[in-house]
Order: sequence, then structure tokens, then C-alpha cells
Amino acid sequence: MVTTVNTTGRTGVAIPRPETSRGGLTRRGFATATLGATAAIGLPASAAQADPAASQHGFDPADWGSVRDQFTLSRDYLQFSAFVLASHPRQVRDAIERYRDALDADPIAAGAGFIDEDGSLEVRTSLAGFLGTDADDVALTDSTTMGLALLYGGLRLGSGQEVLTSEHDFYATHQALRLRHQRGGVPVRKIRLYDDPAMATPDEIVTRIVRSITPRTRVLALTWVNSDNGVKLPARAIADALRDINARRDLSDHVLLCLDGVHGFAAENITMTDLGCDFFATSTHKWLHGPRGTGLLWGKPEHWPFVAPVIPNFSREGYEGWVGDRDPVAAPAILNTPGGYHSFEQRWAVPAAVRFHETIGRARIAKRITSQATLLKDELDRLPNVRVLTPRDPSISAGVVCCTVEGWAAADAEHELRAVHKVIATETPYAQPHLRFGPTMLTAPEQIGRVVKAVRALR
Ligand SMILES: Cc1ncc(COP(=O)(O)O)c(C=O)c1O
Repeated sequence: MVTTVNTTGRTGVAIPRPETSRGGLTRRGFATATLGATAAIGLPASAAQADPAASQHGFDPADWGSVRDQFTLSRDYLQFSAFVLASHPRQVRDAIERYRDALDADPIAAGAGFIDEDGSLEVRTSLAGFLGTDADDVALTDSTTMGLALLYGGLRLGSGQEVLTSEHDFYATHQALRLRHQRGGVPVRKIRLYDDPAMATPDEIVTRIVRSITPRTRVLALTWVNSDNGVKLPARAIADALRDINARRDLSDHVLLCLDGVHGFAAENITMTDLGCDFFATSTHKWLHGPRGTGLLWGKPEHWPFVAPVIPNFSREGYEGWVGDRDPVAAPAILNTPGGYHSFEQRWAVPAAVRFHETIGRARIAKRITSQATLLKDELDRLPNVRVLTPRDPSISAGVVCCTVEGWAAADAEHELRAVHKVIATETPYAQPHLRFGPTMLTAPEQIGRVVKAVRALR
């Protein structure tokens, strides 16, 4: 495809595109025209719209039992790790199947082509709606890890500027920063945000961060909800503290709050404005139960230009720039969306997951997760053989619940819980692993007692 595109937009292969001239159209206007054209050939927009989650197959979004019925996730176990890699609800499975069938029948007509001419605009728009942002600020990725790599690999840093991260962060953040350090010598400093996660407080965390910021600090690379101990960082309070610091700095010198947001996204009912960060990477294949291999990187419009793309994008602007031997002019989020053909059936099905979630109700889902997590922490805390690592207060915790069990390595506890008690928990993938549970919309408060009984039995 690459070699056949020319500046007039005529191609040697049939990349679906509107017959409309693009002259004078903004990307938004262009996108509308594009979707119109896509709908005219019947795919993928028409397929994307055919998913009224609430009316099919007797699905009752008000009934948690009916929500659970949409998933084929095994009922042989209590599924307290369903957030790790999503099982898809029927609505998402159906959408993926429709797109896969269309791609198998005729990939070109199905819309495999330039970003936003391929049905991905609906994906970006739907995710932007979920985040409370503009679609132009949403780059599509395959995972949180990819988003973090694009961000930390691509951020333009001046000489002397440094990255501040925490000792508690996950491999994806630390390794992306290590790779960046190896490439350009960017200094990366790690700090401790708390000594005991169970006792962590927003004040302590903000104080430690502010104390550690120096005039060289350009990036604050953190994880919103920690997957090793369940601590949810007070992102808004951190952002407020940074606002005061940044008020005295040039834009190119602002301390950027960059979050791995994966364990808060769709588990918490929050928008990017509420959260207050500058960049946010997540996948949609965890708490949203979206298609596996999908994700996003969101950035504030004023900060996106500081991210240099590291993977060629597949946008019409990108190709036109290449053909004209000049830099492409397009929204930075477009330029930072990795190109190459994708597993489009997965990507195009993301709006089905967003619709499913919103049909049930974001606030209801978040409340159900939080109330189960609180109950689980309270019950585990009563056990003499257990130390709960996750703070009890929902203002500093989310759905991830971590603990240690006396005399048990996390891996052995995980195995015993699964094999003997039919409870699926996970060992955290960190240097000193812990035992982790995650109540989701697929679990029920009535199941907590059985989980706790199983942990008590680990004597
Ligand atoms: C904090 C955190 N970030 C990122 C990931 C990886 O997620 P993804 O598949 O979206 O890259 C995980 C675990 O899988 C995680 O715990």
C-alpha cells in the first residue's frame, strides 16, 4: 500500500476513503465525511452501530445477574482476577465477530486503511467521551505498556531535565524509563511515596513528591492504582500541587504528571479533568472488559507537541507528508498512534465495550467494585494469618486488594486457592510478590464470604 499512494490521494489499492474533497475540512469535519462514506459501503460504521446492548437477548443492565450472564467466564471458580485480562461480554464478542467476518470477506471494503478512515474515529470518539476529553487528544495503542513506551520514549527532554518516578511503580513504567535512559542518558530518579502502603495518606504522598521535585524535574512518571499493593494515588491533589510549581515555569519546563492509569480506568468513575494528569496511558482490556489488545494514550493538547512519534503512523497526513518529503501536519495524537495494519476487529469493537459499560452505568459499576473491595479488606483484616496491604479508605484505594498470608508464598497461595477452594486470585508480578484479589462487576458481595473462608483455610 505504501508505495502506491500519491499526493492526489489516488492509490493503486482500494483504501476506502470519501469521495469528498478534503479541501477546507478540519479533521473533525473530514471525519464526519469519512464516516459517511464508510457507512455508504456498509462497514464498519453500520456494524459498529448495530449493538443496542440493552435490548438484545433479554439483557437487563439493572440486574447484576444478567450482566454476569453476558460473559462466558467460567463459573467453576470465583473470579477475583477477572480484571487482569478481560473476558468479553457478549456485546463485545458479537462486535468482534461481525468485524472479523467482514475483514475475512473483504478486508479493503471492511475498512482496513488510514486511521480515521478505517472506523477508528468512532473508537477515538467513544474513548474520548468516556474520558471526558476531545478525540483529537486520544492516540490508539495496543496496551498500557505500548502507551507508556510511546510516551517515555518520545517525550522531548531538554539537556539536564530529569524524570522522577517511584519505587512502587510497575515494570512497564520502570522499563520504559530504563530504555529511555539507555538511549539518551536521561536521568531517572526513584522515590518512596510511603513506607507502609496500608497506612499511606494523600498528604504524605503529595508532601514526599513536592519535596523531591527539583528545577530539573520535567516528568513525574507514576501509576494511578498500584497493582502490587492497591494504593490509589491522590492524582488530583498531586496535580494541584504541580499547578503551583508550574505557575512559575515555562510550558516547556512544566512538570508533567504522567500516569499508568490501567487499574483505575473503568474501575473508577472519573474524567481526565477530575483526575488532573497531563498524560494517561491505559489499556481497554482490563476493567472495561474491552477487546484484548486495545488501549489508548491521552494527553493534554498543550503538552502533546512535546511527544515525538517513535512509530510511523498510518494517517493520510502521514503519507502525504512522506510523499511530499515534509513533516506531516496532523493532531499529535494521530501522529503518535502507531501505524501498520492492526487487529481491526478488536479495535473497532472498543465502542461496544464502552456502550456496555455505560449502559450498566459507570457510577454503579464503580460503586459495586468499591463496596466489594471494602468488604473484602475488612473481612481479610480480621484474619489472624493475613496482613492487608491496601488502604481501607476508598479515597486512596480502588478495586485492587493485596495482602500477605503468613507462612505462604503468594504463588503457593494462588495455586492452593485455585486448586482447592476454586477461588482465582493472582500473585503480583513484582520483586516481592503479594496475593491479589480484584472484585469486578462480575463478582458479587455474596462471594466475599467464600473468598475469606478460603484464605482463612490457608493455615
Ligand atoms: C500497573 C500495570 N500497568 C500495566 C500493566 C500491563 O497492562 P497492559 O496489558 O495494558 O500493557 C499491568 C499488568 O498487567 C499493570 O499492573
